[in-house]
Amino acid sequence: MFFLSDKLKTKTLNTVTKEKFMSQKEWIEVGLIEDIPSLGARVVETSNGNVGVFRTAEDEVFALRDSCPHKGGPLSQGIVHGKRVTCPLHNWVLELDSGAVIAPDEGCVASYPVKIENGKVFLNLQAN
Ligand code: FES
Repeated sequence: MFFLSDKLKTKTLNTVTKEKFMSQKEWIEVGLIEDIPSLGARVVETSNGNVGVFRTAEDEVFALRDSCPHKGGPLSQGIVHGKRVTCPLHNWVLELDSGAVIAPDEGCVASYPVKIENGKVFLNLQAN
């Protein structure tokens, strides 16, 4: 079941049901790329936690678990710059393609494969 809804700052793109999440091998359509603002993000709610879906200025799309490895800040509410996002809580910077934290901080958050077909965004929730 999918729906669009408003949240505080970050808007939800879609919801992935438990059944779809459990079938992790398949690509799951979560919405349209035009629903994700350039240099912004939307959240996909899953039964295993939220996934932030980020769009760069070059219209590349990346997906990370929406929980900063520092203290769980909502990365989807961070600042997207280049292929990185800065956490809104304490300004840690993460690579959007890998989820790796940029030095001098350390850590990593799960990243998920994303593909775009005909303007539709698909996630594979089998984390990298
Ligand atoms: S929670 Fe993200 S930098 Fe602290």
